[in-house]
Amino acid sequence: MLISLKEIFQYATKDVAIGAFNIHNLEFIKGVVRAAEETKSPVIMMINEAVLKYGGIEVLGGAAIAAATQSSEYIAVMVDHGTDIDFLNKCIDFGLDIMYDGSHLPFEENIRVTKMMAEYAHKKGHSIEGEIGQLGLSEDGDEETEQKLTTVNEAIEFVKSTGIDVLAISVGNVHGFYKGEAKINIPRVAEISNALFSMPIVMHGGSDIPYETIRASIAAGIKKFNIATDLKQAYALKMSELMHQEVLPIQPLQLFPVVADAVARVAADKIQIFSSKL
Ligand code: 13P
Repeated sequence: MLISLKEIFQYATKDVAIGAFNIHNLEFIKGVVRAAEETKSPVIMMINEAVLKYGGIEVLGGAAIAAATQSSEYIAVMVDHGTDIDFLNKCIDFGLDIMYDGSHLPFEENIRVTKMMAEYAHKKGHSIEGEIGQLGLSEDGDEETEQKLTTVNEAIEFVKSTGIDVLAISVGNVHGFYKGEAKINIPRVAEISNALFSMPIVMHGGSDIPYETIRASIAAGIKKFNIATDLKQAYALKMSELMHQEVLPIQPLQLFPVVADAVARVAADKIQIFSSKL
């Protein structure tokens, strides 16, 4: 069942964060939906803006919405790391929730544009995630930027001034693989979470974080965990394994269900960790 980004958090009780997974094609969609259904858990499907521009709002966005609508579990579908305002407006018009990422902008400018996007999304009945602070590595893992932790005062002002539904914070998390072990500032998560009461807060860069740190982050208040890299790795490894067999499997149906299952296995494990069932 399709549900909005805002509404899905009613299923994130005290010890539970919602798994949010980046999807890139039908196999990712099938894998994530299967993981939700096997674990009987709500999930969020996210489509990175560049991926959605490649796949098409109606084609890839439409497929994700259709899969969510048909599922027995609650699934929200959103654009991830959107920066192109005209494109995001089209996504909203089509029926997608969004993340507007103004974290690269000066703080006041981030507030101005995020507020404008929130007004448009809400007018059309959709939800919006915003972000402050900088993670240190772009979502596609290519671009290294300076890391800047989110402060409590910034978080309060940003949420109050923009009217967003969900807030992504920077607390030592980075996109992609961590250099050494992930060092998440758990006290900062707790301070921000306590200061924002019921506003759901998000951990981007959720791949490659050890179990104990994930659980500590959720105990401190994280309600949405974003995962891209761990799923992409599972997909690529399985595809590579299939491609290196003695006989090249040229039938797509010998490949697609197998890689979809590899995605499902990782997503299901993450959901179990996020809902403290593992
Ligand atoms: P990872 O690629 O590190 O899992 O980050 C995903 C993410 O935060 C997408 O917004």
